[in-house]
Amino acid sequence: MWAFLGALLFFLHGGVAQRQDSDLFSFVTLPEVRALKFDITHVDRERQLPGYWFVAPYGQIEPENPTQKYEQFQIGPYIYDNDGMLVWAGSSITENRNVFDFKANWNIDAEPHLSFILQHEFDNSDRGSGVILNNKYEYEHHVGVTNDLDAFNMHEFNILDGGKTALACTYRSQLVSLADFGRPSEESWIVTGGFVELDVESATVLFEWDSGDHLSITDSVKFHPWDGAQGEPGNDYVHINAVDKNADGDYILSMRFASTIYMISGQDGHIMWRLGGSDSASTDFDQDFTFSKQHDVKFVSSNGTHHVISFMNNASDEYENEEDLSSALFVELDTGVTPMTARVIKRLERPDRGLTRLRGNVQPLPNGNTFVGWSQWGYHAEYAPNGDTLMYAQFASERFSSYRSYKFDWIGRPTTPPDMVTYVYGANDLDMMTIIHISWNGATDVAGYNFYARAFDRGEDIFIGYVNKTSFETLFIGDGYMDWISAEAIDKNGNVLGTTPLQRTEVPPGWKAVGFTGSSSGPIPDDPAIISTSKEGDNSYSAGSTSEDRKGIIYGQTKAVAAAVYKAYEIIQVLGGSLIILLTLCCTAGIVYGIRRFLRVRRSRSYQHIPSEEGQPVEQIQLRSSDE
Ligand SMILES: *[C@@H]1O[C@H](CO)[C@@H](O)[C@H](O)[C@H]1NC(C)=O
Ligand SMILES: *[C@@H]1O[C@H](CO)[C@@H](O)[C@H](O)[C@H]1NC(C)=O
Ligand SMILES: *[C@@H]1O[C@H](CO)[C@@H](O)[C@H](O)[C@H]1NC(C)=O
Repeated sequence: MWAFLGALLFFLHGGVAQRQDSDLFSFVTLPEVRALKFDITHVDRERQLPGYWFVAPYGQIEPENPTQKYEQFQIGPYIYDNDGMLVWAGSSITENRNVFDFKANWNIDAEPHLSFILQHEFDNSDRGSGVILNNKYEYEHHVGVTNDLDAFNMHEFNILDGGKTALACTYRSQLVSLADFGRPSEESWIVTGGFVELDVESATVLFEWDSGDHLSITDSVKFHPWDGAQGEPGNDYVHINAVDKNADGDYILSMRFASTIYMISGQDGHIMWRLGGSDSASTDFDQDFTFSKQHDVKFVSSNGTHHVISFMNNASDEYENEEDLSSALFVELDTGVTPMTARVIKRLERPDRGLTRLRGNVQPLPNGNTFVGWSQWGYHAEYAPNGDTLMYAQFASERFSSYRSYKFDWIGRPTTPPDMVTYVYGANDLDMMTIIHISWNGATDVAGYNFYARAFDRGEDIFIGYVNKTSFETLFIGDGYMDWISAEAIDKNGNVLGTTPLQRTEVPPGWKAVGFTGSSSGPIPDDPAIISTSKEGDNSYSAGSTSEDRKGIIYGQTKAVAAAVYKAYEIIQVLGGSLIILLTLCCTAGIVYGIRRFLRVRRSRSYQHIPSEEGQPVEQIQLRSSDE
């Protein structure tokens, strides 16, 4: 028994124990998915908006040579619930390419959609695109690059209401005179910043604007009159990183290296006004605040004269900082008065009082809360309308960051069936259990799973149990050797959301090695109908000497093993890594006795016999029944 248990735990831990990656989830059903874990602090759960997190971890910001990947399928789009439980891993569909600005879109039609920027390929064989998926996780649009640009820029894929057009940022190299620096005889390459409004169907450029036509090199806070001329690609003098459009058809832009937010006319592209960050000479507003190196400017509301905008005030870059900590700012602008005014109406500071030197975003939530992505290491936080911090979280390690992080409601209805893996374990023919792992990548609203087994391939489905969904992947343990298994994912009202195909149960190859003492041909599947009925009421097994009692004891041992497996599996999920073997071996003995009673009660209720239909032919096949 104990030798078997040890061997079983060893077998279960096999692949996991060798990896030093306790910051990543591993799943039996989706071995290729290695999703990041979060460390989460819920300060006030009650006031958090229910919803899901949308993050896209990346290791390095530029595409990597595929041969240098640390491991497959860690970067890409991921959805988590509010407790950091994985809901959807999209990493396998994005093929180890970086993904940015991953979010849900409820502004396209009646159904929710997903969108993200798929970064260009390492070898530029693909220039990247803005991608739109439906809520079945199927591709709807690849909004690619149709003009002269080398790549779809990583900063923005802003799908406008109705979903017909989207905004993206552009970067272009250009040779310019340094006359504005008082050096008319010199020229330098610069990288201009601009944006395009794209047709989502055809990726045609409908509107285009570029800083090279409108902004001087003197607008930059990073390119100085004393700097030398540069070759290609040139000085990234304005660094555009966000663009949005209001109902009037005008655009608002964030130029990080001008520390300025610009309002651009949708009619003719002229600059309607500048909200200057740190240099008061460049602002058109009477303003009661400063900002710098900002990100993610968005309209919260906008009419002809009054605009509320939100943005990330990074207040620093990789080399310097202008303020001591980064903040999410909400600012109210009145352009109908002289002078125009700009007032801070909300300032949300990083819970750790740190600086977001790169990237980040600010998202007003429908209930008045705010979700802020501080970017590095996936740090993000939710705030109450009064500014209270309600939750903060970050990836469990410092290997990855997320350019932006969002919170949205989401309904995921994958067309692929749930993924299921089933194994049988046991020491002899009377002491067997079937271990089933099940998950359904991307499905929301799954409350639990019903499991069915058949006595033979075309036999009837016999219900063998129900288990509540416990996490992304859920474990079910059935008594006996159940084969021809299928499962239904059901919602909280009992509706069937999806069904697995019929699957055979796998028998571990080293069957004898783990101590199986049954028939020499190996274990033979049980008849689920007989197991179900014979086990009704089989929930007392105090030691005795009749064969019925012995059978009870054997089932008791099976349950003890099942309990240990449950526990081992939980520990694998929580900790990962080699530490778990030690922990599991230390605590198994205690757990066995503690959980045995619980499982016994649970098991006695979990079987029910579903009667077969009249007149159905019953094929003769070799079956071992537990009544033998
Ligand atoms: C714009 O919004 C402001 C503030 O809500 C309001 O006072 C003003 O009347 C509005 N202007 C227009 C033209 O709707
Ligand atoms: C904000 O992000 C920008 C752009 O990535 C970065 O350069 C700047 O340093 C950040 N500011 C702060 C305060 O972290
Ligand atoms: C499943 O969860 C529900 C709600 O939490 C609970 O009432 C029910 O007893 C659970 N069922 C099982 C089989 O664990």
